[in-house]
Amino acid sequence: MPRKVTKAIFPVAGLGTRFLPATKSVPKEIMTLVDRPLVQYAIDEARAAGIKEFIFVTSRGKSALEDYFDHSPVLEQELRKKGKTELLEILKSTNMESGAIAYIRQHKALGLGHAVWCARRLIGDEPFAVMLPDDVIAGEMPCLQQMVEAYKETGGNMVAAMEVPPEKTSSYGVLDVLDDMGSIVSVKAMVEKPKVNEAPSNLAVIGRYILSPSVLANLNRMKAGSGGEIQLTDAIAQDIGTGNGVYGYRFRGQRFDCGSKAGFLQATVAFGLAREDLREDLSRYLREMIQLDQAAE
Ligand code: G1P
Repeated sequence: MPRKVTKAIFPVAGLGTRFLPATKSVPKEIMTLVDRPLVQYAIDEARAAGIKEFIFVTSRGKSALEDYFDHSPVLEQELRKKGKTELLEILKSTNMESGAIAYIRQHKALGLGHAVWCARRLIGDEPFAVMLPDDVIAGEMPCLQQMVEAYKETGGNMVAAMEVPPEKTSSYGVLDVLDDMGSIVSVKAMVEKPKVNEAPSNLAVIGRYILSPSVLANLNRMKAGSGGEIQLTDAIAQDIGTGNGVYGYRFRGQRFDCGSKAGFLQATVAFGLAREDLREDLSRYLREMIQLDQAAE
């Protein structure tokens, strides 16, 4: 059985320009999805998958993110005093164990591969997960946990995968499938953001990875790829045909692209409707809106 995955890298150095002006002062990762910051969803998913060490690759202007993960004794004391036990529990559930989080700065925006490489010394020689908090995945079993289960069988490298409309493939890393075994596929090539007519398939990489430390060694030698950036996809692809191999995993669940405004809004509605305390009001409002919209047409 492959070694247990206990470390995860969260690349959060991006400027979040698609969400300006909000991201002028608020890091995109702590923008609120219903009532929790985006990054909390990724953290909860990682915890469910058995991750114990959380490595954030950050950049200038992300100190609000570090503050978010700090304990807040004054607030906790206040809630305790007022007997607000429910809120206290919510707050406590976001507390991280001392020493469980590390922050590394990516000093230059050289791409996702470079961001992951910046964490290499904290990973050492063991398999690790990478989670892109922009990709929020709702599922009965959290996506990374599904992957950890599948990875026990395959070892090597595993990327979350999902069929996307063919005209959208140019926004993703895309898999060229060697052997399709259903939820697991073995991969013979992968291309970062191919031109639509050059995409090897419509099976796209989604932001969850379980990687072998050999990918970090590959990144040591990596040259800029698509968009002039050092691409994680290219470094993973270098493991194809080695003892490690690369697998795609078709997860069960719904993925929201919270890196886009439309995706963020859709996630807000979906997660809102999934909440017992909000469902009734929200769904009534949505029905009214749809009726108004139809009447106007
Ligand atoms: C990144 C990866 C890409 C992957 C995508 C998933 O791209 O480089 O391979 O398909 O995440 O969200 P980005 O969206 O950061 O440009």
